[in-house]
Amino acid sequence: METPYGEIPDRFVPNMRPVEMHDYLRRSQTRRSVLKGAGAVGLAAALSPVLWRQSDSFASTPDAPQWIAYGTDPATQMHVSWSTGTATGTRQVPPSPQVRWGKNTRYGAQQAATNSGPVPVPSTVPGEPAENTVYNNTLLVGLHPDSTYHYSVSNDGKTWSADATFRTAVAKTSDFRFTAFGDHGTHSTSTAPMAALVANLRPAFCVVSGDLSYATPLPIPIPQTARFHPEAWDTFLGIIGPSAAQSIPWQVGVGTHEIEPLENHGYDGFLTRFPQPYDLTSGSPVVHTFAYGNVAFIQLDGNDLSAQATQINGYSQGAQTRWLEDKLVTYRRQDSGIDFIVVTFGNCVFSTNQNHGSDGGIRAVWEPLFDRYKVDLVINGHVHAYERTNPMRAGQPTTKVAPGGTVYPARQGTTYICAGGAGQGLYRTWYGTTDSPAGDTGAPTPPKVWQWSDGDGPAGGGGTNLDVTDTAEGFSAYSQPDHRRTRSPTACDEAG
Ligand SMILES: [Fe+2]
Repeated sequence: METPYGEIPDRFVPNMRPVEMHDYLRRSQTRRSVLKGAGAVGLAAALSPVLWRQSDSFASTPDAPQWIAYGTDPATQMHVSWSTGTATGTRQVPPSPQVRWGKNTRYGAQQAATNSGPVPVPSTVPGEPAENTVYNNTLLVGLHPDSTYHYSVSNDGKTWSADATFRTAVAKTSDFRFTAFGDHGTHSTSTAPMAALVANLRPAFCVVSGDLSYATPLPIPIPQTARFHPEAWDTFLGIIGPSAAQSIPWQVGVGTHEIEPLENHGYDGFLTRFPQPYDLTSGSPVVHTFAYGNVAFIQLDGNDLSAQATQINGYSQGAQTRWLEDKLVTYRRQDSGIDFIVVTFGNCVFSTNQNHGSDGGIRAVWEPLFDRYKVDLVINGHVHAYERTNPMRAGQPTTKVAPGGTVYPARQGTTYICAGGAGQGLYRTWYGTTDSPAGDTGAPTPPKVWQWSDGDGPAGGGGTNLDVTDTAEGFSAYSQPDHRRTRSPTACDEAG
């Protein structure tokens, strides 16, 4: 059995309680640290994701993953996507990919996929591209708001996948639940349970701040493909599709690991797999926004401004920030129909974790906008942990809100949540703690923030990025050690 922290032999798993698994992994990690040099190859093999495989015969019933996402109008439009074939082996092009849908299992409507193909690989990549999976998608329009639809997909127009359902967004204000997290991965013991948890919570939709399959590590210079493992996407989609994303709109943003050795600033794979209402006027191919009832969601690209992950820093040349302000102005108009604004992107504006920490490049540019337009909630990941700030204005908490308490953002400020614990191995180096669930010890170290050497000039990549000590007192409110020990950073935790 694979976990984010190592491998447990399958013969042990049925008889092990979680605490025994924990002890086993701690012991095995200790041995590995002793054998660090000689064991490196073996460890890498143990941590490699298990390749998910599927039938490659289009004559059989399609059983590949399916996943959905809202169109421009979530109340009346839905993107339906599915894959055929796998990353390895011969690429097989589906002869007639299509979707049928309706209010019941008689369906009644049918339409062909509007896009069908593999992830485009640039000509600068030598040899046969590793990516052979064919992705299909189509946009269903003219749907009724707040309605359940049945759908089924086919690769040849003859045999069809098992029936699945989805529900369109409400057209007016109502209570609803959404889930949110980042840093999902492909682990059977953590990623898969998180997807199952989302399904059990029955949210209207799930927003992901970024870092999905980890098919590519960082940094990976485009177009180098030496450490690019696109088959991880098959594993990832095989986890989220059947368990959750085929019925729950999966509204995804990009993190640092979505930058792949591909075109479009590395985002061609993301764009091929996840059709969403991207707004190219943002200067970014991956930025988008949607509204559910009276709540607007804006999914940004923090890689454009990050002072830590600088691979494509500054690529929109300020256009994304101008677009963001324009959207915030629009949403804050009296007649917009929007009362709450939620923003997601990869890197944390505020974090007390020693791994990655805060991203001052993003904080310097976007935090003033979040303050000015009274953004209610910002959801980040990248740091594999869970933290929530007290409501903030101008980098300072305005009040204290206990876990599970109520925030009044219009008068109290913006809440920043780091929800980067959706499956990847959790970071344990918290500020102010000397222990952790894994028994690690260490002196409390002040949190850090990545900043530019020449001040607040991330757009365009001026200066060099510095890792400097931050002032935790200004923003940390967070959780108590016991809180951390007993509560894993779950989807929807505290966000309702
Ligand atoms: Fe991550």
